[in-house]
Amino acid sequence: MIYLDNAATTPIFPEVTQVIADTLTNQFGNPSAIYKMGKEAKRQMTTARKQIADVLNVDSNSLFFTSGATESNNWALMHMAKKSKELGYGNHIVATAIEHPSVHDVLEHLETQGFEVTYIKPNKAGEITVQQFEQASTDKTMGWVAMAVNNEVGSILPIENLAVKAEELNYWIHVDAVQAIGHDIIDLSSLPIDAFVGSAHKFNGPKGIGFLVHRPKDDKLAIKPLLHGGGQEKNKRSGTENLPYIAGMATAVTLTNDTKEDRVGQDENLATYLYESLDVAGVTYHRNGNTNPAQQANHIHNLWLPETLSSQLLIKADLKGIAISAGSACSAGSIQPSRILQAYYPDEPERWVESIRISFGYQTTKDDIDALINILN
Ligand SMILES: Cc1ncc(COP(=O)(O)O)c(C=O)c1O
Repeated sequence: MIYLDNAATTPIFPEVTQVIADTLTNQFGNPSAIYKMGKEAKRQMTTARKQIADVLNVDSNSLFFTSGATESNNWALMHMAKKSKELGYGNHIVATAIEHPSVHDVLEHLETQGFEVTYIKPNKAGEITVQQFEQASTDKTMGWVAMAVNNEVGSILPIENLAVKAEELNYWIHVDAVQAIGHDIIDLSSLPIDAFVGSAHKFNGPKGIGFLVHRPKDDKLAIKPLLHGGGQEKNKRSGTENLPYIAGMATAVTLTNDTKEDRVGQDENLATYLYESLDVAGVTYHRNGNTNPAQQANHIHNLWLPETLSSQLLIKADLKGIAISAGSACSAGSIQPSRILQAYYPDEPERWVESIRISFGYQTTKDDIDALINILN
């Protein structure tokens, strides 16, 4: 199998599988138990939390373990919106129109609950700018929402500048960084981001585990419990912790961080090779996303192949043992035109159904790209 769909999920690092197996076998104590086994499990969990917090450069007290990014996005957004409305800060949120459904659908739900949301579409150049966010803000605005890297087209959003401006204007900011972590580790120490979300299976860890970093600039927005019960996660998310996966996630993020320079170089080389090979093979394509290559991630590529239905190409690729995608994994099962491509190219409906996503991981090679190019011409 030639796997070019790493934005959907990534293969697990062998070292991570080993840590999970060891923890499952040898560390099955409940971290809440007060005897030695429990204390050891708790110690391993504290170490894992610290490892992840150190990579992101945040206080480990602000890091909560969750079942993944969908939960983290739901938890933080619902809380921040409701609490800030309750405090009388307003009822308006500015968000990009290209968020993952785990953000977008929460915002649409909030719109049914008395909130107003302005969705920022990419401009003609495919950019989302701080200026657009500022212009869309009103005296009712409470917060801004922007992802770090888009999961369908790979556009890089200006989260540093958005975070600084949001702080200046007294808004909270929520950042879904799922597709950035693993390729570009974000140092949060100097970034005034209130809520920051990651998911282990996008950086070679297990599925079903993720985190939320919540450290609001405004103390009144301190996170409220998501689940009530045994009081785990500082009373905010009760339920016996999934220690094997927590330890696996910590190992994955540490390995990713340790090899980040190699990864950045590899992504860059593969991206150059992909576009050179497309040109050499004479494939007709247009790159979707930001027109400025510097604002495009090197690990997620979205190509419009005129007159090639992506649904048919996906099947052809599958028959040759190549996994690619036509959009986000969550909508891949149902062949709906991509909401993200609609936001980028509102007047080009053919582009919504004739585009494919190719995404690289640590295991991707030039041979994988050659195999893909072979089926494109
Ligand atoms: C940008 C982005 N946010 C959130 C998610 C959801 O992550 P999870 O699978 O951990 O719920 C994904 C996964 O596709 C994603 O790409």
